[in-house]
Amino acid sequence: MVRIAQLTDLHLSVADRGRVFGSDVWGNLERVLAHVQTLGVDRLVLTGDIANSGGRSVYERLRPLLSPFGDRMLLLPGNHDRRAALRAVFPSRWPATANRLGFEAELGGCTLLGLDSVHEGRTRGELGQDQLHWLAGRLAATTRPVVLFLHHPPVRVRCWFVDRDLLRDRDQLAALLRPRPPLAIFTGHVHQAHELEFAGAPVFTTPAVAYQYGLHSWVPLPKSLRPALRILELDGGLVRSEVVRL
Ligand SMILES: [Fe+2]
Ligand SMILES: [Fe+2]
Repeated sequence: MVRIAQLTDLHLSVADRGRVFGSDVWGNLERVLAHVQTLGVDRLVLTGDIANSGGRSVYERLRPLLSPFGDRMLLLPGNHDRRAALRAVFPSRWPATANRLGFEAELGGCTLLGLDSVHEGRTRGELGQDQLHWLAGRLAATTRPVVLFLHHPPVRVRCWFVDRDLLRDRDQLAALLRPRPPLAIFTGHVHQAHELEFAGAPVFTTPAVAYQYGLHSWVPLPKSLRPALRILELDGGLVRSEVVRL
């Protein structure tokens, strides 16, 4: 059995004394990382909105906090991140020429694939033709079960102010996945926990480290400032996961 911690939507900021919507986002992160270290994990996966406004100084302040995880860490950007700054501070994560900041890893008998769903300058998600082509190749190359990570959910969660950011090229993604659906798809962005379905695969949205929106809320303001994360366990071709709220 291998264990993965998924952290999403950290919204880290060096402005306003490190508070976003009143949430102590650095304090939340430190609580979550302390919890992860007591559990012991094989991988730490960050699924975007790492910074609240994409500044390099935020990633530089974050880097030493993640150093205990070393090569066990996998990162993806979200719509609040800026690829150039993220890559500059974590240069060993991606080739200098990569347009998209995704990942591929083998773990627990599974292939983990991370997709970069950022349409830079926009809030909505988009994978783009080049990345869809890359994904098709990776899916064809592995016989192992696939676990997919990306920032934007490919399905609606019935909350208007996040559903408007839905992954734009989700139909093309569905066409790639449907012949052999992934074991599971894990996303962020919505700051809510949902269990849904897409292209024959279960989709789990993970609540944020920074702050949470209410389920099906009409108001884009936090309902809770408590940090959360998701713990995944891969075991013999099966995946289990649970949300932990601290
Ligand atoms: Fe977010
Ligand atoms: Fe987001």
